Amino acid sequence: MGPPDLVVVSNRGPLSLSTGADGQQIATRGGGGLVSSLGPVVAGSGATWVAAAGPDTPHEVVEAEGFRVRPVPLDGERFRQYYDVVANATLWFLHHDLFDLARRPHLDRRWRRAWDAFREVNDAFAEVIAAEAGPDATVIVHDYHLPLVGRALARQRPDLRTAHFNHTPFCDPDALAVLPEDVAAELLDGLAGFGACGFHSTRWSANFEACCSAVLGRTPATFVSPAAVDGEELARVAATPECEADLAELDALVGDRHLLVRVDRIELSKNLVRGFLAFDEMLHEHAQWRERVVFGAFVYPSRETLPDYLAYRSEVEAVVARVNRTWATPGWTPIVLDSSDRFTRSVAALRRSDVLLVNPVRDGLNLVAKEGAVLNERDGTLVLSPQAGVWDELSGAALSVNPFDVAGTAEVLNRALAMDRAERAVRAKALRTASEARTPAAWLDDHRAHARPAPPEPPTG
Ligand code: G6P
Repeated sequence: MGPPDLVVVSNRGPLSLSTGADGQQIATRGGGGLVSSLGPVVAGSGATWVAAAGPDTPHEVVEAEGFRVRPVPLDGERFRQYYDVVANATLWFLHHDLFDLARRPHLDRRWRRAWDAFREVNDAFAEVIAAEAGPDATVIVHDYHLPLVGRALARQRPDLRTAHFNHTPFCDPDALAVLPEDVAAELLDGLAGFGACGFHSTRWSANFEACCSAVLGRTPATFVSPAAVDGEELARVAATPECEADLAELDALVGDRHLLVRVDRIELSKNLVRGFLAFDEMLHEHAQWRERVVFGAFVYPSRETLPDYLAYRSEVEAVVARVNRTWATPGWTPIVLDSSDRFTRSVAALRRSDVLLVNPVRDGLNLVAKEGAVLNERDGTLVLSPQAGVWDELSGAALSVNPFDVAGTAEVLNRALAMDRAERAVRAKALRTASEARTPAAWLDDHRAHARPAPPEPPTG
């Protein structure tokens, strides 16, 4: 392969390392929405995918299905400061409005050192991209881990057509004020060094523009392009013997009861705990659902190097145990919590669900809502938080739920479970049509169309 004319860049690459039953390390598909949406478009494209090689990812160049993975090797401590301290404990919390402001964040000297490491890692990515990309190539950099690559890359390779695509929400100027002024300015200027900045929803692009105008006094080019699901690939997975076996197992577990489903990382912004509390309240208020519905929660551990995520997982497990203690009967477990992280199991659950709960506090898009719409075989209903970017596309067909209103969520779950067949069918059709309206290839084409050479750097001082 010659130098690629397309380079995609993200912190997490398509392959993660995990330990098999025999103790051997095995490469598996990386988790989360970014890998799900990028994987299918990069396959067969001849692109190079530049990704961080942290402790749980391969350090060798890998030739995959028609593309190449070029790792950026990072030592353990630098990776921790960049990924744990700045990207996940600061920027993720900032963009998802997760800070408990009375206590966090505290941006002390140690945090400043982590910010320096964050800049170094962004610079290391820029160097690798500059060395890899062919003349005039298109470079699409993904997500909140790599905002500073724009400016660094523009200085080295002004010929490249570049874009940044953020998979998260973007905070508004009030929330941004948590960051020290120089950090906020560096962050936004890094992004402004790309040819254009893309988002899943106009809400996030408007916030970004408002931040840039307040802090930089200018607004970079932006575009909105919600990610799409690969219906063919999902159908292929659904047809595998593994998925059929998972579906049979689920059918045996649920029997003739209704199935309420969620599929998520164990992630604070996904709002798992309030979802279980709402289910508890629904069983309390609407006795007819006792023994008549199973809540299958297919949720898998994430970012467990951060204490907040470990604590959240404990909270999730505790609330599930409490709800089950309250309501379980000899033949019925109200909530089945499955954290085994098996993609075929999640696909089986989305095929079989009667109601899918997607109630994030805030979410860049939420691909699961679209995957559910495409895979479902029972005219399942979607209960959706307007705080998810995908609300823009699915609001007409989903039932709306305020993610903070536990009592309200209980009522919406009751309504969704009780919905008559005719209304379910109409809504399910509309969900599917909206979810299939765009393809992953069109999503990538959008990025390519918006990528352009970086604008001239504004004078300093
Ligand atoms: C979200 C982010 C992605 C990230 C994924 C999984 O979808 O937008 O950038 O890859 O979560 O999180 P992780 O920290 O495991 O990569």
